[in-house]
Amino acid sequence: DTAALEQDFQSLVESESRVEPRDWMPDAYRATLIRQIAQHAHSEIIGMQPEGVWISKAPTLRRKSVLLAKVQDEAGHGLYLYAAAETLGVDRAELTENLIEGRQKYSSIFNYPTLSFADVGVIGWLVDGAAICNQVPLCRASYGPYARAMIRICKEESFHQRQGYELLMTMMGGSRMQRDSVQDAVNRWWWPSLMMFGPPEGASPNTARSMAWRIKRHTNDELRQRFVDMTVPQADRLGVELPDPELRWNADRGAHDFGTPNWDELYEVVRGRGPCNAERIAHRRRAHREGDWVREAATAHAAKRASGTAK
Ligand code: 3HC
Repeated sequence: DTAALEQDFQSLVESESRVEPRDWMPDAYRATLIRQIAQHAHSEIIGMQPEGVWISKAPTLRRKSVLLAKVQDEAGHGLYLYAAAETLGVDRAELTENLIEGRQKYSSIFNYPTLSFADVGVIGWLVDGAAICNQVPLCRASYGPYARAMIRICKEESFHQRQGYELLMTMMGGSRMQRDSVQDAVNRWWWPSLMMFGPPEGASPNTARSMAWRIKRHTNDELRQRFVDMTVPQADRLGVELPDPELRWNADRGAHDFGTPNWDELYEVVRGRGPCNAERIAHRRRAHREGDWVREAATAHAAKRASGTAK
């Protein structure tokens, strides 16, 4: 009976075993994984837009090719995660419709504009740095396909973080204008990067259950703290100020104290009222429509092959 199945399932995840696609799982476990993996995949795909605009305006051929490689990686991460979501019985066409129609979310961080090339470095350093803090524990998620997708994605994210930091190191060794441009980008991206980890304890309805099911290994606040502690020394070495007057080392806690993110801003952005939400979804809708002919051709060719009439 279901109670016994749920008991066995809970023992399986608590024994640190992996749940695989053909295993029995509670409907709610399946549903929350589809929710999180789909949003993760949507984030990767939408995440190509803010940086993509700078590919044609990169200052050198090297910066262009590094940025091109990073954006292509994000596309691959998205497809990888849609494949992981499909092992749970959903179809990526349906997930894309959910994204375009606003029924599913993507990370708030991608709803901010990229105003200068320094933003490309700051996104690599802070946003991919935050993504690494969030994604390394997901390599141990109880659902096999998700955890395995994360292992490869994390390897590529560390390249993303390093190329961003190296870009900023170069600019900080440059002119006054370049250094000011980096500081301006840090001022604009710092707080949205902290919000990326999600709402604080007590305002995070999914955390308790996701941790009981070993999908999440830490709370949003724990990962946010880990990110702050990792980033402060990097900012010092870079020579930039983090825009938080309350940020200071607390020896008693062995961690940095920092100010409170603007949660109202996070909720506004999550609800679709951020600076670039409409533009991001309109772009995704247009790209999807422009890709219709490719999907139709591939479907027609597959049908021909299936009927043996393909040339
Ligand atoms: N942006 C958008 N929505 C967010 C959010 C954010 N930053 N933080 C929280 N939310 C949403 C949640 O999805 C949830 O809504 P839902 O129930 O309708 O899905 C609600 O706000 C409450 O938040 P919870 O903390 O209860 O939700 P979760 O337990 O799912 O935690 C999360 C949120 C930490 C983002 C978690 O979903 C997660 O770890 N997701 C996978 C990782 C991910 O998406 N990372 C960001 C992707 S960016 C990226 O990796 C690209 C990189 O290459 C730059």
